[in-house]
Amino acid sequence: MDFQFTEEHLMIQKAARDFAVNELLPGVIERDEHQKFPAEQIKKLGELGFLGMMVSPKYGGAGLDTISYVLAMEEISKVDASASVVMSVNNSLVCWGLETFGTEEQKQKYLVPLASGQIIGAFMLSEPEAGSDATSQRTIAEDKGDHYLVNGTKNWITNGGSASVYLVMAQTHPEKGSKGINALIIEKDTPGITIGPKENKLGIRGSDTHSVMFQDVKVPKENRIGEDGFGFKFAMKTLAGGRIGIASQALGIASGAFELALKYSKERKAFGKEISQHQAIQFKLADMATKIEAARLLCLKAAWEKDQHLDYTLSGSMAKVFASETAMWVATEAVQVHGGYGYVKEYHVERLMRDAKITQIYEGTSEIQRIVISRSILS
Ligand code: CAA
Ligand code: FAD
Repeated sequence: MDFQFTEEHLMIQKAARDFAVNELLPGVIERDEHQKFPAEQIKKLGELGFLGMMVSPKYGGAGLDTISYVLAMEEISKVDASASVVMSVNNSLVCWGLETFGTEEQKQKYLVPLASGQIIGAFMLSEPEAGSDATSQRTIAEDKGDHYLVNGTKNWITNGGSASVYLVMAQTHPEKGSKGINALIIEKDTPGITIGPKENKLGIRGSDTHSVMFQDVKVPKENRIGEDGFGFKFAMKTLAGGRIGIASQALGIASGAFELALKYSKERKAFGKEISQHQAIQFKLADMATKIEAARLLCLKAAWEKDQHLDYTLSGSMAKVFASETAMWVATEAVQVHGGYGYVKEYHVERLMRDAKITQIYEGTSEIQRIVISRSILS
């Protein structure tokens, strides 16, 4: 048991913190207000190696461990959760899925540019009628011998407008249920793809979320990931790690809101003293700090298990449900600590509160995490 970070971990954490403060903080309020995708900042994140953090240097990645990834996700999310969701999807859904299950040709062609941030990717499982109930895929990938013909609609796709490469789950053998689903690599420019309008969201408004329609889209057989019918397992295994990324995003939102509340409580005076001298505020800060520390330890434990090649499905779901509920609670309390000032944009906490909500919904809602956890502890 060792609670000490390495020099390298601390260096990555500092690099992410510096990037967040210097490159993301200026303009974060405007990007949120105008739903502007942080294109320039994402490009720089890629150049610094933050979009392929855990990918082997052989494929253009930074070759770091999952602990480093958690630390970096926390720092970026403290400031801009719209940027960190792009980072999370590219690292833990797209790059990890390709590196772990892709063929050498797929890795050379797609993983190399994705890991170095030259392009970004999207992960497409959800549909208008298949969100939590993810096995009910309506998108069809009809087997045509040397290619698949894809028809259907994917919903709520993060990076839907800006990604160049999509990992798409689609049903090939409906009679086989979840065992009939395939995971396909589809290039954005393939004829037959239509991207819907950008969703107008409550939070993470800088990220671009779109529906994506496929009409007779021809996908070569060599773009299938894994064996025929491996697609649902691919999605579940990939999401198990993705949930560590979103848990770390939630952790960052919580710790960002806490840092702002702590600072403000020492500046604002009421009834002749700093509000931090009132016990009601002190107890809020104490509860915030305690929940954040517990969330951080759950994230790091799941990351450590992943790095040790242990099964991290349970710890990842525990980290996600706890960290996301912590983020929502802490951010709401941070608004309260700020009083009326917390309700306006300049003080940042109202945005963090809006951003926190999504962490309880995507990559499996809190209810779905509890299903995964209860199935595991009851089995
Ligand atoms: N690893 C490997 N295989 C797994 C698995 C895992 N973690 N979880 C399930 N499976 C396998 C099962 O073993 C089963 O295979 P067998 O039949 O061979 O045993 C198969 O998958 C079907 O599993 P279930 O019978 O458990 O399926 P279910 O219908 O009960 O659903 C579920 C399980 C956990 C609820 C799943 O549907 C789920 O996770 N739903 C949530 C979907 C989700 O998280 N979507 C996120 C979309 S991406 C996103 O959101 C990105 C973003 O925002 C940024
Ligand atoms: P539903 O599944 O319809 O759920 C509605 C409610 O019912 C929820 O509270 C849910 O927890 C509850 N519920 C459902 N089933 C059960 C059950 N068995 N027991 C108890 N409660 C249950 N998806 C992608 O594939 N790729 C992406 O990049 C992506 N990005 C997203 C970005 C944003 C901003 C958003 C909003 C969503 C994104 N999603 C993405 C989709 C996201 O994963 C789904 O919204 C989520 O999985 C929930 O599915 P749903 O919206 O269909 O809700």
